[in-house]
Amino acid sequence: MATALITGATAGIGAAFARALAARGDDLILVARDAERLAATAARLGTEHGVAVETIRADLSVRADVLAVAARLEDARRPVDLLVNNAGFGLHRKLLDPDFSEHENALDVMCLAVLILCGAAARAMRARGRGRIINVASLAAWLTTGNYSPVKAWVKVYSEALSNELHGSGVTVTALCPGWVRTEFHQRAGIRTAAIPDWVWVDADRCAAEALAAADKGRMISVPTRRWKAARFVADLAPRAAVRWASRMLSASRD
Ligand SMILES: NC(=O)c1ccc[n+]([C@@H]2O[C@H](COP(=O)([O-])OP(=O)(O)OC[C@H]3O[C@@H](n4cnc5c(N)ncnc54)[C@H](OP(=O)(O)O)[C@@H]3O)[C@@H](O)[C@H]2O)c1
Repeated sequence: MATALITGATAGIGAAFARALAARGDDLILVARDAERLAATAARLGTEHGVAVETIRADLSVRADVLAVAARLEDARRPVDLLVNNAGFGLHRKLLDPDFSEHENALDVMCLAVLILCGAAARAMRARGRGRIINVASLAAWLTTGNYSPVKAWVKVYSEALSNELHGSGVTVTALCPGWVRTEFHQRAGIRTAAIPDWVWVDADRCAAEALAAADKGRMISVPTRRWKAARFVADLAPRAAVRWASRMLSASRD
């Protein structure tokens, strides 16, 4: 039996990871801000799957909360076998907006907290000679839209760098890079989705299942579904000027 710690486990992709891991019998540690939702999610998963579920109420933009989660990851008496860094949100503010608080929050939650939690988990896992880390990036990492693309590009490249530092240690790192996923993400960020066709969307359970399968095989990048794998292939080969043009069109469609 393994233990997995998932950040942002109460909704969307994180909740899908929690369901998939509980279904395979893993004990869980769920992290998010909303205490009531955490308790309800833990009770439901514990009852449905008979696994032990711990919760940590933490705002990952707050350093003390991040350090508390990191301490749980490094607790040698209660090893964590899988870390899923998933908590995150969409960004709406322009780069030129004088109010940079949303960007600061994004860097704290989606970059700095990821770096601190990965460091803690990787130290403990390397000492045991095994472990898995999944960081939720995005296909936006290949684009150039606002601050979200730079943030997710950081997650992707950081995961590759961490994987290098852990090479040969028995600990693997996988960056999950999905396209559009139906979750609370767009509504929370005030991103309009009415014009996005149905075929574009990926199911959150499919994302979690593909990422877990990739992590089990020690794969570095997981892009769920064939159509988004094809999109990644095109983005890898396309001239960057074409990628910037497509990103401008995408950003303009949201304004
Ligand atoms: N949806 C997409 O189209 C898509 C595509 C590619 C990548 N992603 C990435 O997937 C990840 C999950 O997003 P989602 O689509 O599943 O979004 P979601 O449905 O809005 O879920 C976000 C989760 O993160 C938690 N969270 C948000 N801010 C937090 C904070 N400061 N501290 C701790 N927990 C926090 C939320 O719980 P609380 O509010 O209770 O804290 C919630 O559990 C994100 O990293 C996102 O960038 C999403």
